[in-house]
Amino acid sequence: MKKFVCLTVLLFSGAVLMAQELMSPDGKFRMQFSLDVNGAPNYRLDYKGKAVIKPSKLGIELKDKNSFLNGFSIKNSESNPFDETWQPVWGEWKNIRNQYNEWAVTLHQSSGDRDLIIRFRLFNDGLGFRYEFPAQKNLLHFVIKEERTQFAMTGDHTAYWISGDYDTQEYDYTTSKLSEIKGKYKEARSSNASQTAIAETAVQTSLMMKTAEGIYINLHEAALIDYSCMHLNLDEKNLVFESWLTPDPKGDKGTLQASCTSPWRTIIVSDDARDILASNMTINLNEPNKIKDVSWIKPVKYVGVWWEMITGKSTWAYTDGVPFGTEGTAAVKDVPSIKLGQTDFTKLKPNGKHGANTAHVKELIDFASIHGFDGVLVEGWNEGWEDWFGYHKDLVFDFVTPYPDFDVVGIREYAKSKGVKMIMHHETSGSVRNYERHLDTAFKFMKANNYDAVKTGYVGDIVPLGNYHYNQWMVNHYQYVIEKAAQYKIMVNAHEAIRPTGIYRTWPNMIGNESARGTEFQAFGGSKPNHVTLLPFTRLIGGPMDFTPGIFEMDISKINPNNNSHVNSTLANQLALYVTMYSPLQMAADLPENYNRFLDAFQFIKDVAVDWDDSKYLEAEPGDFITVARKAKGSNNWFVGNVTGVVGGRVSTIDFDFLDSDKFYVATIYSDAKTAHYKTNPQAYEIKKVLVSKKSKLKQWAAEGGGYAISIMEVDKANTKGLKKL
Ligand code: NOJ
Ligand code: CA
Repeated sequence: MKKFVCLTVLLFSGAVLMAQELMSPDGKFRMQFSLDVNGAPNYRLDYKGKAVIKPSKLGIELKDKNSFLNGFSIKNSESNPFDETWQPVWGEWKNIRNQYNEWAVTLHQSSGDRDLIIRFRLFNDGLGFRYEFPAQKNLLHFVIKEERTQFAMTGDHTAYWISGDYDTQEYDYTTSKLSEIKGKYKEARSSNASQTAIAETAVQTSLMMKTAEGIYINLHEAALIDYSCMHLNLDEKNLVFESWLTPDPKGDKGTLQASCTSPWRTIIVSDDARDILASNMTINLNEPNKIKDVSWIKPVKYVGVWWEMITGKSTWAYTDGVPFGTEGTAAVKDVPSIKLGQTDFTKLKPNGKHGANTAHVKELIDFASIHGFDGVLVEGWNEGWEDWFGYHKDLVFDFVTPYPDFDVVGIREYAKSKGVKMIMHHETSGSVRNYERHLDTAFKFMKANNYDAVKTGYVGDIVPLGNYHYNQWMVNHYQYVIEKAAQYKIMVNAHEAIRPTGIYRTWPNMIGNESARGTEFQAFGGSKPNHVTLLPFTRLIGGPMDFTPGIFEMDISKINPNNNSHVNSTLANQLALYVTMYSPLQMAADLPENYNRFLDAFQFIKDVAVDWDDSKYLEAEPGDFITVARKAKGSNNWFVGNVTGVVGGRVSTIDFDFLDSDKFYVATIYSDAKTAHYKTNPQAYEIKKVLVSKKSKLKQWAAEGGGYAISIMEVDKANTKGLKKL
């Protein structure tokens, strides 16, 4: 066996210590591991001969036990190369290469007579490492007080960050120097109602950074299973991040039983921003697929009864009920008290604005069927929405009882006759115990009514109270739902859940997640126009997002006169999102009437694929622009998307050298018109049809908050007549 670890004598913090090092397969990365004079583990990471992570401490502080922080000696050290290529059930690529050099260091702590293993995997795109706790005489059940993993930065980098929070990630990103995080903390949180802030210097992962020398660094975690989610807290003086886990109701950070492991801590690095987007390190650090029969797992393009409620045009609730915060006011005089299971809704007056009514749902099914969508999501179909949020109620929904105007069987049969799949909605309103109680019955109800995908949601404080959306108990809940759903052959799209960490490799029925600021915020006051140039560098590092793009009417007051929100995006930008925001689950989120006004642009949403054989990141800079080309699964058609956040717009320049030289292609380019602007003129777009070949080049202007989308269809030579070359 070839050995990858070399022993060297190095100078750390003035003391001469023995250190060992590991190289990446391509030799660009070098990581060193050492024990300092106190026997405390340290690592550092170099890229192309320069430090990207300075010597940083590793360790775990335990509650009521000797901590795993120092007093270690190296007991054993084992290194091995690894190289495999595997095929995801769905994804950006047909084949994924997983190549790294692994190094497991077994440390012995003589004081407590215990072992701890730190396992490193050095890839060609960065480093992953985790703690492993072998079952042993002196370690079985233990409680984590805090993980003390450090990431020491080499300078005051530019960071693209959202502030630490135990309950939500639905923030706009802030771009600033690391040293400015604290000063910008308040402003950074203003884009969402503050939930559970943790420290003015804490940020969430995945954290994207850029050094003054142009090195891109991304910190995150992979395979977050049975452990609490990690934040990063900055020591501003020394520019050192340290892990900060999410607590349970007692304030503890994790309850573990050996043998067990921590999630992987990941550091993706490159001097080319495109490599960060193309990295598969996070998914590769997860276990292989555990679902044997995957025939039922299918990427989905869908429409739904959704945007109308988000914009306030219609309601989830069937009656006016008792609106949150209005109890005791004149507004609720004479309103009956509504309780799940005790209220006969057939006797109540409907509010006349209930979105999920049978006739309307059938219209959506017709629209889906005419335009070739796979599915229809319907929210607000079940009893409980009158006071679903804000009261910490235990029993909110039972997930099986429809409102009187939602005909489950009639809709099931109608959808079947139109070849459209219904998508179930389970809003838990954070009442997790209630959801787990009903889960089997709810999934059986779904299967009986032909639903094989569910969108879950966790709005509000978690019940039982004291838990947080991102603590270990909740991480285990989300995982429980995924695995239970797999037993029923159900696909899951979880909103407000824990941020993805590549688990979809192991559980590919997890086809969607929100866990970031999605399109809904465009109806709640708007998002920054460059938000979508950051999400792929941050949230999407862990997996796809149900971003719900495709908004064509940016002036929300045209949908609901009482809502003055504006969608900070051009129409062409909305099209590009289907390609730049990779997801096997894509919604066409706007109302059918808005698509009917722009059928020529809508064609792109109809044509675009949701599963891919290949992806080429053509241009990228966090906060400024992303251009990607993707090859549709099992076809020779390509789709290109560009999103731009640069103030005043930018000219994007791309080659088509990803095309085959012996084929003919027709490209339809959907771009911002010269006068387009996300705020003042978002619907100004142009569509042009041209011939393209491997030798073609495109220079295309894109507005701020704008972009372009291209469908490139392979055609017979005969079908190229009359078309101009690009
Ligand atoms: C928040 C989700 O993100 C949104 O998609 C959903 O419609 C509402 N919660 C209601 O469940
Ligand atoms: Ca949400």
